[in-house]
Amino acid sequence: MSTEQIIADGATLGVVGAGVMGQTLLRGLLANGLVPRDRLWAGDKNAATCESASEALGIPVQKEFQQSIPAADVILACVKPLDAAAVMTTLVHAGMRPTTLLISILAGVSTEKLESLLGTQNPVVRAMPNTPCVVGEGMTVVCAGKNASSRDLARARQIFEGVGKCLAADETHFNAITALSASGPAYQYLIMEALADAGVRVGLPRHLALTLVAQTVLGAARMVLATGRHPAALRDDVTTPAGCTIAGLLILEDGRVRSVLARAVEEATRTAAHLGAPPKI
Ligand SMILES: NC(=O)c1ccc[n+]([C@@H]2O[C@H](COP(=O)([O-])OP(=O)(O)OC[C@H]3O[C@@H](n4cnc5c(N)ncnc54)[C@H](OP(=O)(O)O)[C@@H]3O)[C@@H](O)[C@H]2O)c1
Repeated sequence: MSTEQIIADGATLGVVGAGVMGQTLLRGLLANGLVPRDRLWAGDKNAATCESASEALGIPVQKEFQQSIPAADVILACVKPLDAAAVMTTLVHAGMRPTTLLISILAGVSTEKLESLLGTQNPVVRAMPNTPCVVGEGMTVVCAGKNASSRDLARARQIFEGVGKCLAADETHFNAITALSASGPAYQYLIMEALADAGVRVGLPRHLALTLVAQTVLGAARMVLATGRHPAALRDDVTTPAGCTIAGLLILEDGRVRSVLARAVEEATRTAAHLGAPPKI
């Protein structure tokens, strides 16, 4: 798919909310040249963020971004879930075109909710990325709202493929996806921290222990993705009879590591279902 297929001739792509994820997606778009620099813009309500993002990215990032909205063919909403209503109102009042594709990465905010906040027939695509997008190793899942075509979904996928992998899935899976891949890096960091501590416990310098752990996690992930083999089969390959790996694995099983991980994802899935709503105090 060429640049012209992501945005129409003469049109622009705008990002509303130039925080961590907004800047990351813009960096991906700039790096792979999918949209020319002079057709990208961003808006943020925080003046300091506008200044630092504009300097870092080399594109206009403005607090008064409303005047840029009518020229946009694609708008990426990258604000916090509780700011959804304010941003949808801004887009409509500023004259967003009826054909402009809205892509939202707001956790817990459904396409139906976004469509109703807009009150227009604009195509909407919902996406759930994760922070490894920052290093080009993100995992994003997208789904289409009722007015979005397969081409709209393909355009959205192309944007997220610039910062990692991107798959399409049914929206009914989004709370589970949020719990598994959007929250997932935090689980891995906790596990990596614990393993690095374990390395220190058995006498390794901390820096060496952490490097060993991080590269081992990366290598194991690549083995799963590159070979397509089941993790259990790969585990069997490194489990020699009466060896140290089976000794360590049995201690992990004693600690019920599988059910702890499953319960963590179950609880995060339940929590994800309420993310778009104001917190109950
Ligand atoms: N970070 C992740 O791992 C991750 C993963 C998947 C999905 N997401 C989703 O990505 C979204 C953004 O997350 P983030 O971590 O990038 O947040 P962030 O760093 O806080 O960025 C959001 C930015 O949007 C600005 N903003 C708020 N309301 C606005 C408005 N009405 N108009 C323009 N700008 C506005 C915020 O300004 P202020 O700071 O002044 O409020 C902030 O600079 C969230 O909805 C989250 O659910 C995040």
